[in-house]
Amino acid sequence: MTATKKHRQRKQRDGRGTPTLASRVDKYKLYEQAVQCAEAEIDFVDQTFRTMRKREARLLREDFCGTATISCEWVRRRAVNRAFAVDIDPGVLQWGREHNLGALHPRQRARIQLLNRDVREVNTRPVDMVLAMNFSYWTFRDRPVMTAYFRKVHAGLVRDGVFFLDAYGGYEASRIMKESTEHRKFTYVWDQAKYNPVNGHCLCMIHFRFKDGSRLNDAFIYEWRLWTLPELTEMLTDAGFRPTVYWEGTDEHGEGNGVFTPTTEGEADAGWIAYIVAEK
Ligand SMILES: C[S@@+](CC[C@H](N)C(=O)[O-])C[C@H]1O[C@@H](n2cnc3c(N)ncnc32)[C@H](O)[C@@H]1O
Repeated sequence: MTATKKHRQRKQRDGRGTPTLASRVDKYKLYEQAVQCAEAEIDFVDQTFRTMRKREARLLREDFCGTATISCEWVRRRAVNRAFAVDIDPGVLQWGREHNLGALHPRQRARIQLLNRDVREVNTRPVDMVLAMNFSYWTFRDRPVMTAYFRKVHAGLVRDGVFFLDAYGGYEASRIMKESTEHRKFTYVWDQAKYNPVNGHCLCMIHFRFKDGSRLNDAFIYEWRLWTLPELTEMLTDAGFRPTVYWEGTDEHGEGNGVFTPTTEGEADAGWIAYIVAEK
Protein backbone atom coordinates (compact mmCIF):
# COMPACT_ATOMS: atom_id res chain seq x y z
CA MET A 1 0.00 0.00 0.00
CA THR A 2 1.51 3.34 -0.99
CA ALA A 3 1.97 6.08 1.58
CA THR A 4 -0.54 8.14 -0.29
CA LYS A 5 -3.23 5.42 -0.12
CA LYS A 6 -2.58 4.77 3.61
CA HIS A 7 -2.61 8.51 4.23
CA ARG A 8 -5.91 8.80 2.33
CA GLN A 9 -7.45 6.01 4.42
CA ARG A 10 -6.39 7.75 7.60
CA LYS A 11 -7.97 10.88 6.22
CA GLN A 12 -11.15 8.92 5.40
CA ARG A 13 -11.73 7.69 8.93
CA ASP A 14 -11.33 9.58 12.22
CA GLY A 15 -9.77 8.17 15.39
CA ARG A 16 -12.98 6.26 16.15
CA GLY A 17 -13.05 4.78 12.60
CA THR A 18 -16.02 6.97 11.60
CA PRO A 19 -15.85 8.05 7.91
CA THR A 20 -14.80 11.72 7.75
CA LEU A 21 -17.03 14.32 6.11
CA ALA A 22 -14.37 14.85 3.42
CA SER A 23 -14.57 11.17 2.46
CA ARG A 24 -18.36 11.33 2.05
CA VAL A 25 -18.93 14.55 0.11
CA ASP A 26 -19.58 14.98 -3.60
CA LYS A 27 -17.10 17.54 -4.97
CA TYR A 28 -19.34 18.53 -7.90
CA LYS A 29 -22.23 19.34 -5.55
CA LEU A 30 -19.88 21.48 -3.43
CA TYR A 31 -18.51 23.16 -6.56
CA GLU A 32 -22.00 24.13 -7.74
CA GLN A 33 -22.90 25.50 -4.30
CA ALA A 34 -19.62 27.40 -3.90
CA VAL A 35 -18.97 28.97 -7.32
CA GLN A 36 -22.08 28.78 -9.52
CA CYS A 37 -25.41 30.60 -9.55
CA ALA A 38 -27.18 29.35 -12.67
CA GLU A 39 -30.28 31.52 -12.06
CA ALA A 40 -28.31 34.78 -11.87
CA GLU A 41 -26.13 33.81 -14.86
CA ILE A 42 -29.14 33.03 -17.04
CA ASP A 43 -30.95 36.18 -15.84
CA PHE A 44 -27.97 38.26 -17.00
CA VAL A 45 -27.38 36.66 -20.41
CA ASP A 46 -31.11 36.38 -21.25
CA GLN A 47 -31.86 39.98 -20.30
CA THR A 48 -28.73 41.39 -21.97
CA PHE A 49 -29.40 39.50 -25.23
CA ARG A 50 -33.04 40.69 -25.26
CA THR A 51 -31.97 44.31 -24.69
CA MET A 52 -29.27 44.17 -27.38
CA ARG A 53 -31.12 42.14 -30.02
CA LYS A 54 -34.76 43.13 -29.39
CA ARG A 55 -35.67 39.46 -29.55
CA GLU A 56 -35.44 36.42 -27.24
CA ALA A 57 -32.57 33.99 -27.56
CA ARG A 58 -33.53 30.36 -27.96
CA LEU A 59 -30.42 28.33 -28.78
CA LEU A 60 -27.53 28.44 -26.28
CA ARG A 61 -24.13 26.69 -26.38
CA GLU A 62 -22.49 26.34 -22.96
CA ASP A 63 -18.77 25.80 -23.55
CA PHE A 64 -16.71 24.27 -20.69
CA CYS A 65 -20.11 23.28 -19.26
CA GLY A 66 -18.88 20.99 -16.44
CA THR A 67 -22.05 19.63 -14.79
CA ALA A 68 -24.24 21.54 -17.31
CA THR A 69 -26.23 23.20 -14.53
CA ILE A 70 -26.44 26.47 -16.52
CA SER A 71 -27.78 24.70 -19.63
CA CYS A 72 -30.38 22.99 -17.44
CA GLU A 73 -31.49 26.36 -16.08
CA TRP A 74 -31.79 27.65 -19.67
CA VAL A 75 -34.18 24.92 -20.85
CA ARG A 76 -36.29 25.39 -17.69
CA ARG A 77 -36.87 29.09 -18.58
CA ARG A 78 -38.94 28.67 -21.80
CA ALA A 79 -40.33 25.65 -23.67
CA VAL A 80 -38.63 26.88 -26.86
CA ASN A 81 -35.17 27.08 -25.32
CA ARG A 82 -32.56 24.52 -26.40
CA ALA A 83 -28.96 23.98 -25.32
CA PHE A 84 -25.73 22.31 -26.39
CA ALA A 85 -23.49 21.67 -23.36
CA VAL A 86 -19.86 21.00 -24.28
CA ASP A 87 -17.11 19.57 -22.07
CA ILE A 88 -13.91 17.62 -22.74
CA ASP A 89 -14.27 15.55 -19.53
CA PRO A 90 -16.68 12.59 -19.89
CA GLY A 91 -16.73 12.11 -16.09
CA VAL A 92 -18.18 15.52 -15.25
CA LEU A 93 -20.69 15.17 -18.12
CA GLN A 94 -21.85 11.82 -16.78
CA TRP A 95 -22.31 13.41 -13.32
CA GLY A 96 -24.30 16.22 -14.95
CA ARG A 97 -26.42 13.73 -16.90
CA GLU A 98 -27.32 11.83 -13.73
CA HIS A 99 -27.78 14.73 -11.30
CA ASN A 100 -28.83 17.77 -13.34
CA LEU A 101 -30.46 16.42 -16.50
CA GLY A 102 -31.89 13.65 -14.35
CA ALA A 103 -33.77 16.30 -12.32
CA LEU A 104 -35.42 17.82 -15.40
CA HIS A 105 -38.82 17.00 -16.87
CA PRO A 106 -38.38 14.62 -19.86
CA ARG A 107 -39.52 17.34 -22.29
CA GLN A 108 -36.90 19.72 -20.87
CA ARG A 109 -34.22 16.99 -20.97
CA ALA A 110 -35.02 16.41 -24.67
CA ARG A 111 -33.95 20.01 -25.38
CA ILE A 112 -30.37 19.60 -24.11
CA GLN A 113 -27.53 17.82 -25.91
CA LEU A 114 -24.38 16.99 -23.94
CA LEU A 115 -21.32 16.98 -26.21
CA ASN A 116 -18.07 15.37 -25.03
CA ARG A 117 -15.80 17.52 -27.22
CA ASP A 118 -12.98 20.00 -27.16
CA VAL A 119 -14.63 23.42 -27.59
CA ARG A 120 -12.09 24.11 -30.35
CA GLU A 121 -13.46 21.20 -32.40
CA VAL A 122 -17.18 21.18 -31.60
CA ASN A 123 -19.63 21.70 -34.46
CA THR A 124 -23.32 22.44 -33.89
CA ARG A 125 -25.98 24.36 -35.81
CA PRO A 126 -25.44 28.13 -35.41
CA VAL A 127 -26.56 29.32 -31.97
CA ASP A 128 -27.88 32.62 -30.54
CA MET A 129 -25.51 32.65 -27.55
CA VAL A 130 -22.26 30.97 -26.53
CA LEU A 131 -21.25 31.06 -22.85
CA ALA A 132 -17.72 30.48 -21.48
CA MET A 133 -18.03 30.95 -17.71
CA ASN A 134 -15.98 30.78 -14.53
CA PHE A 135 -12.84 31.75 -16.47
CA SER A 136 -12.63 28.24 -17.98
CA TYR A 137 -11.33 29.61 -21.30
CA TRP A 138 -8.17 30.77 -19.46
CA THR A 139 -6.96 27.23 -20.01
CA PHE A 140 -5.87 28.65 -23.38
CA ARG A 141 -2.66 30.40 -22.41
CA ASP A 142 -1.36 31.98 -25.57
CA ARG A 143 -2.79 34.49 -28.02
CA PRO A 144 -2.87 32.36 -31.21
CA VAL A 145 -4.74 29.56 -29.42
CA MET A 146 -7.15 31.93 -27.63
CA THR A 147 -7.82 33.96 -30.78
CA ALA A 148 -8.44 30.75 -32.75
CA TYR A 149 -10.98 29.68 -30.11
CA PHE A 150 -12.71 33.08 -30.32
CA ARG A 151 -12.82 32.75 -34.14
CA LYS A 152 -14.38 29.29 -33.75
CA VAL A 153 -17.06 30.74 -31.47
CA HIS A 154 -17.69 33.62 -33.90
CA ALA A 155 -18.24 31.14 -36.76
CA GLY A 156 -20.64 29.10 -34.58
CA LEU A 157 -23.01 32.01 -33.87
CA VAL A 158 -26.02 33.17 -35.89
CA ARG A 159 -25.71 36.55 -37.70
CA ASP A 160 -26.75 38.55 -34.58
CA GLY A 161 -25.32 36.10 -32.05
CA VAL A 162 -23.63 37.09 -28.77
CA PHE A 163 -20.68 35.54 -26.89
CA PHE A 164 -20.71 35.88 -23.06
CA LEU A 165 -17.54 35.43 -21.01
CA ASP A 166 -16.45 36.39 -17.51
CA ALA A 167 -13.07 37.51 -16.19
CA TYR A 168 -11.51 38.39 -12.84
CA GLY A 169 -8.66 40.66 -11.88
CA GLY A 170 -7.48 43.39 -9.51
CA TYR A 171 -4.15 43.85 -7.73
CA GLU A 172 -4.71 40.73 -5.59
CA ALA A 173 -5.38 38.45 -8.57
CA SER A 174 -1.68 37.66 -9.05
CA ARG A 175 -0.92 37.42 -5.34
CA ILE A 176 0.03 34.02 -3.84
CA MET A 177 -2.77 33.67 -1.28
CA LYS A 178 -5.70 31.57 -0.08
CA GLU A 179 -9.18 33.01 0.31
CA SER A 180 -11.77 31.14 2.41
CA THR A 181 -15.55 31.46 2.16
CA GLU A 182 -17.75 29.91 4.83
CA HIS A 183 -20.79 27.93 3.75
CA ARG A 184 -23.29 26.20 6.04
CA LYS A 185 -21.69 22.73 5.81
CA PHE A 186 -18.24 23.46 4.45
CA THR A 187 -15.57 26.07 3.83
CA TYR A 188 -14.59 26.85 0.23
CA VAL A 189 -10.91 27.73 -0.25
CA TRP A 190 -9.65 29.46 -3.40
CA ASP A 191 -5.89 28.90 -3.50
CA GLN A 192 -3.73 31.09 -5.79
CA ALA A 193 -0.64 28.90 -5.48
CA LYS A 194 1.60 30.11 -8.30
CA TYR A 195 1.92 33.13 -10.62
CA ASN A 196 4.62 33.76 -13.20
CA PRO A 197 4.74 37.46 -14.16
CA VAL A 198 6.91 36.65 -17.22
CA ASN A 199 4.21 34.68 -19.07
CA GLY A 200 1.14 35.37 -16.88
CA HIS A 201 0.64 31.67 -16.11
CA CYS A 202 -1.02 30.85 -12.81
CA LEU A 203 -1.84 27.70 -10.85
CA CYS A 204 -5.04 27.82 -8.80
CA MET A 205 -6.78 25.15 -6.75
CA ILE A 206 -10.10 24.68 -4.99
CA HIS A 207 -10.05 22.99 -1.58
CA PHE A 208 -12.89 22.22 0.81
CA ARG A 209 -12.74 22.16 4.64
CA PHE A 210 -15.22 20.46 6.97
CA LYS A 211 -16.36 20.91 10.56
CA ASP A 212 -14.81 17.61 11.64
CA GLY A 213 -11.40 18.95 10.62
CA SER A 214 -11.22 16.82 7.48
CA ARG A 215 -10.16 18.36 4.17
CA LEU A 216 -10.61 17.74 0.46
CA ASN A 217 -7.46 19.21 -1.04
CA ASP A 218 -6.99 19.94 -4.73
CA ALA A 219 -10.61 19.09 -5.51
CA PHE A 220 -10.15 21.14 -8.68
CA ILE A 221 -6.84 22.33 -10.18
CA TYR A 222 -6.54 25.02 -12.83
CA GLU A 223 -3.45 25.80 -14.92
CA TRP A 224 -4.50 29.08 -16.45
CA ARG A 225 -3.19 32.37 -17.73
CA LEU A 226 -4.27 35.47 -15.83
CA TRP A 227 -5.51 37.38 -18.88
CA THR A 228 -6.27 41.10 -18.62
CA LEU A 229 -9.41 42.78 -19.97
CA PRO A 230 -7.53 44.77 -22.64
CA GLU A 231 -5.80 41.59 -23.89
CA LEU A 232 -9.15 39.75 -24.03
CA THR A 233 -11.07 42.55 -25.76
CA GLU A 234 -8.24 42.98 -28.29
CA MET A 235 -8.32 39.26 -29.17
CA LEU A 236 -12.14 39.29 -29.38
CA THR A 237 -11.93 42.25 -31.76
CA ASP A 238 -9.28 40.42 -33.83
CA ALA A 239 -11.74 37.50 -34.03
CA GLY A 240 -14.47 39.79 -35.46
CA PHE A 241 -16.45 40.63 -32.31
CA ARG A 242 -17.53 43.99 -30.82
CA PRO A 243 -16.75 43.38 -27.12
CA THR A 244 -18.16 45.43 -24.22
CA VAL A 245 -17.08 45.08 -20.59
CA TYR A 246 -19.90 44.92 -18.00
CA TRP A 247 -18.72 46.06 -14.54
CA GLU A 248 -20.37 45.13 -11.26
CA GLY A 249 -22.00 47.87 -9.21
CA THR A 250 -21.59 48.19 -5.44
CA ASP A 251 -24.04 48.30 -2.54
CA GLU A 252 -24.00 50.74 0.41
CA HIS A 253 -21.19 48.69 2.02
CA GLY A 254 -19.03 48.91 -1.08
CA GLU A 255 -19.62 45.21 -1.81
CA GLY A 256 -20.53 43.87 -5.27
CA ASN A 257 -24.32 44.12 -5.81
CA GLY A 258 -24.60 41.61 -8.67
CA VAL A 259 -25.72 44.29 -11.15
CA PHE A 260 -23.43 44.46 -14.19
CA THR A 261 -23.57 47.47 -16.54
CA PRO A 262 -21.61 48.39 -19.69
CA THR A 263 -18.56 50.54 -18.97
CA THR A 264 -15.29 51.80 -20.39
CA GLU A 265 -13.89 52.58 -16.93
CA GLY A 266 -13.47 50.13 -14.02
CA GLU A 267 -12.26 50.50 -10.41
CA ALA A 268 -8.64 49.81 -9.42
CA ASP A 269 -9.91 47.40 -6.75
CA ALA A 270 -8.09 44.55 -5.03
CA GLY A 271 -10.40 42.03 -6.70
CA TRP A 272 -13.22 42.24 -9.21
CA ILE A 273 -15.25 39.98 -11.52
CA ALA A 274 -16.60 41.37 -14.79
CA TYR A 275 -18.55 40.10 -17.80
CA ILE A 276 -17.43 40.58 -21.39
CA VAL A 277 -20.32 40.67 -23.85
CA ALA A 278 -19.03 40.17 -27.40
CA GLU A 279 -21.45 40.89 -30.24
CA LYS A 280 -20.99 39.20 -33.60
C1 LIG B 1 -13.82 25.70 -14.24
S1 LIG B 1 -14.74 24.39 -14.91
C2 LIG B 1 -16.13 25.34 -15.38
C3 LIG B 1 -17.43 24.78 -15.22
C4 LIG B 1 -18.61 25.71 -15.52
N1 LIG B 1 -18.54 26.31 -16.83
C5 LIG B 1 -18.69 26.85 -14.55
O1 LIG B 1 -19.19 27.93 -14.96
O2 LIG B 1 -18.41 26.68 -13.38
C6 LIG B 1 -13.89 24.10 -16.44
C7 LIG B 1 -14.45 22.97 -17.29
O3 LIG B 1 -13.87 23.10 -18.59
C8 LIG B 1 -13.60 21.81 -19.12
N2 LIG B 1 -12.60 21.98 -20.19
C9 LIG B 1 -11.29 22.33 -20.05
N3 LIG B 1 -10.70 22.45 -21.28
C10 LIG B 1 -11.68 22.17 -22.21
C11 LIG B 1 -11.72 22.15 -23.64
N4 LIG B 1 -10.63 22.44 -24.38
N5 LIG B 1 -12.87 21.82 -24.25
C12 LIG B 1 -13.98 21.53 -23.53
N6 LIG B 1 -14.04 21.55 -22.15
C13 LIG B 1 -12.89 21.87 -21.51
C14 LIG B 1 -13.14 21.02 -17.89
O4 LIG B 1 -13.33 19.65 -18.08
C15 LIG B 1 -14.07 21.59 -16.78
O5 LIG B 1 -15.25 20.82 -16.64
